[in-house]
Amino acid sequence: MSAPTAERQTADRHQTAERLLKSSAKKSYDPAVDIDWDAPLVEGGIWVPEHRVSLYGTELWERMTPEQRVELGKHEACSVASVGLWFEVLLMQRLLKDFYAEDPTTPRAQYALTEVADECRHSQMFARMVRTAGVEPYGPQESIRQLGKLFSVVSWGPAAYGAILVAEEVLDRLQREQANDERIQPLMRQVNRIHIMEEARHVSFARDEVTRGMAQLSRTEKAYQQFIIAYISMFVVRSLINPKVYASVGIDPAVGRRAALGNPHHREMIRWAGEKIMPFLDEAGLVGRPGMTWWRRSFLLGEPGDR
Ligand SMILES: [Fe+2]
Ligand SMILES: [Fe+2]
Repeated sequence: MSAPTAERQTADRHQTAERLLKSSAKKSYDPAVDIDWDAPLVEGGIWVPEHRVSLYGTELWERMTPEQRVELGKHEACSVASVGLWFEVLLMQRLLKDFYAEDPTTPRAQYALTEVADECRHSQMFARMVRTAGVEPYGPQESIRQLGKLFSVVSWGPAAYGAILVAEEVLDRLQREQANDERIQPLMRQVNRIHIMEEARHVSFARDEVTRGMAQLSRTEKAYQQFIIAYISMFVVRSLINPKVYASVGIDPAVGRRAALGNPHHREMIRWAGEKIMPFLDEAGLVGRPGMTWWRRSFLLGEPGDR
């Protein structure tokens, strides 16, 4: 079969966008009205399942009281939410830059703006949830926040959308597990449900951008894209839990961080969360030697013996 022509590819690209625009018009949420923000939090409700807390199974965990374990889970859930909204802001920058560069009347451009609108509502929702939980909006560590300013400068095309997919799909996997868990705070579950529904469209769009973009790269460009996606993805997963969360249960942030990074349960959680997206990126040609050091450090590929 011959390779698709440029016109054919452009037509396909707009077709995907048209389908996603229709779906957005049919089903979108407004967290301001679709969440009962005045409902009291459930006494004793947890925010994440115990086995997803970064220190689960460590010596530090064994020394914690049941209340401290719930407290740390709440702070970690809020860290993930506040880092998640930071990812969304970086994605919005990328989408707006793409919109700026193209014909605003095309379905693809129209969809880019629709996705920005979704992410605006999500970021408000996550911020409001953190505030309701009464937790500091940690966000990423300062050095990583500064690096984030470079995201839409050093990455574009498949690597940019691929790194966004890592963030979206890793969070999606964790949120799906929690959405139907009755022990989790109803507020957290409703936030997760809304996010899962709308992210499904974002994932389709980004996967399409990756596949289409990879087909057009030269060998040098491909090597750069393989390097930069791995580098950014490592920061994506490493930034989810801000070490300051450990202070909420009297653990020195540096000590907690070290214990989490060395914790086989935590490493396995990251591998599990990336289990859906990594084979896709691999097949698309984005997982290659220039980025291997960073992929390994991210834990997304599992322990060295796993591959
Ligand atoms: Fe989102
Ligand atoms: Fe998204």
